[in-house]
Amino acid sequence: MDLLPAATEVRENAYAPYSRFKVGAAVRGLSGAVYQGCNVENAAYPEGTCAEAGAIAAMVAAGEIELTEVAVIADCPEPVSPCGGCRQKLAEFGRPDVRVTLATLDGKIAETTIGELLPGHFGRRHLDGE
Ligand code: THU
Repeated sequence: MDLLPAATEVRENAYAPYSRFKVGAAVRGLSGAVYQGCNVENAAYPEGTCAEAGAIAAMVAAGEIELTEVAVIADCPEPVSPCGGCRQKLAEFGRPDVRVTLATLDGKIAETTIGELLPGHFGRRHLDGE
């Protein structure tokens, strides 16, 4: 399954009554399986979660802890840019060279990597000296 169609599909289920900004994300686990996530907002605004976080949570719940590809899509003029927190979450589970496809609903696409999104990220190596 291609990631962008998977992200586009799950975006339809986004719960975004406050921002009206629906986001879909899909990640591929090391096994090849695809995991989808959408943003889920809350009346208590800070309790909302991003699409990327949902996709990562689905992957981990399925027993995988490494992702090899990411796609994120939203309806905006320029390809959606993952927030700082999501960049950190992606860096936890993906190597810096993992490809990230950022897309708009009308077909604009930007290709980047986890390393470009968050250079020098804080990680496990800082905690245990690996
Ligand atoms: N959002 C995501 O889900 N992912 C992104 O990459 C950018 C922002 C969500 C959070 C919130 O529900 C809405 O988009 C507006 O910020």
